[in-house]
Amino acid sequence: MGVRYDAEVALDREFVMGTYARKPVLFTHGEGMRLYDDDGGEYLDFVSGIGAVNLGHAHPAVTAALAEQAAKLVHVSNLFYVEHRAELARDVSELLGGGWKMFFANSGAEAVEGAIKLARRWGTQHKPGAYKVVTLERSFHGRTLAALAATGQPSKQEAFKPLPEGFVHVPANDIAALDAAVDETVAAVMIEVVQGEGGVWPLTAEYLEGARRICDERRTLLIADEVQTGFFRTGPAFAHQAFSVTPDVVAVAKALANGLPIGGFLARGDAADALQPGDHGSTFGGGPAICAAGRATIAALVAGGFGNRAAEAGAYLCGRLEALADATGEISDVRGAGLMVGVTLTRPVAAQVATLALELGIVLNSIGADTLRFLPPLVCGKDEIDTLLSTLTNILAEVTG
Ligand SMILES: Cc1ncc(COP(=O)(O)O)c(C=O)c1O
Repeated sequence: MGVRYDAEVALDREFVMGTYARKPVLFTHGEGMRLYDDDGGEYLDFVSGIGAVNLGHAHPAVTAALAEQAAKLVHVSNLFYVEHRAELARDVSELLGGGWKMFFANSGAEAVEGAIKLARRWGTQHKPGAYKVVTLERSFHGRTLAALAATGQPSKQEAFKPLPEGFVHVPANDIAALDAAVDETVAAVMIEVVQGEGGVWPLTAEYLEGARRICDERRTLLIADEVQTGFFRTGPAFAHQAFSVTPDVVAVAKALANGLPIGGFLARGDAADALQPGDHGSTFGGGPAICAAGRATIAALVAGGFGNRAAEAGAYLCGRLEALADATGEISDVRGAGLMVGVTLTRPVAAQVATLALELGIVLNSIGADTLRFLPPLVCGKDEIDTLLSTLTNILAEVTG
């Protein structure tokens, strides 16, 4: 740890609110899957800013697009047309198969918040009396009040009550529970195709197809929160595309501009025109600089074939983790899609494993006491996975031995 680390920690303690228990490292730069600290230490990044830096750090095309547009024009607001905004919306619509309209926000929580507003507005137009949103237990949709109310994790909600009303939580992968919950007061069902913050829990094909059928039968919107699963993280451009299910609304953020702050939601059919002038807005959303970066991100993801790469690397990672589970008995479950992978450890040592991994140059994320989550940049290949696995093998032996 360098001198700059000590100074930065002191400043952070004095001036930044303590909402995060930060890890003891000061990252100063990165390239691809590698991060570097202020003392020259090199790390392999298996977190990618919580699934945001899908192309890897300091991607030259994204940097160039941002710098070029920043030198021309950064911000004029949504009162005016700018370059790159509609083009980026078209690019995301095309990734979704075409025919979608987009609203630009600045984060995942805002994307979800807007999608909820859209569902309520759509309810007033197409299903009078419907305003509720059904979401899943263990889901995560963000930290703003409505997104928090949608989140199916009571521990995160407790201190902030009363939360906005109109949210109903049902168990994941239980189609009978969803069937019972969706009535004439429900405007939308919102799901993560793979629950991320809850511990990497995929929904089944039967459940997704059942949810689509129930929404169709009861004239209810299906919202896919693809904030974490989007932009080739799980293989296809969006996780729902691995199934024969198309949502009505999709929330996106994280990897859309390779780690720069952007979010948004897209809708098709009558939902695409539900929000009218004056219904919703954002000062910064859809600015030309961030949208230029978003366009460069999508172009590079598509040109680099990162969907196939994520699927292949993810299968290799899962295979190696399953072999480690068999060899050690210290892992009870390996699951995920593409390069969004979670494991359950048989002992509550996930935080300890992540701490030791950082000391050995591997950036890892633990969720709760027993879950490790792997979200590397999609440039991750077999060599990096082999390094991860040999480090993990040593750490598990040390922690449990
Ligand atoms: C599925 C999902 N939705 C929403 C969010 C909130 O995104 P943000 O932190 O950008 O507000 C997250 C963040 O992890 C997420 O994983």
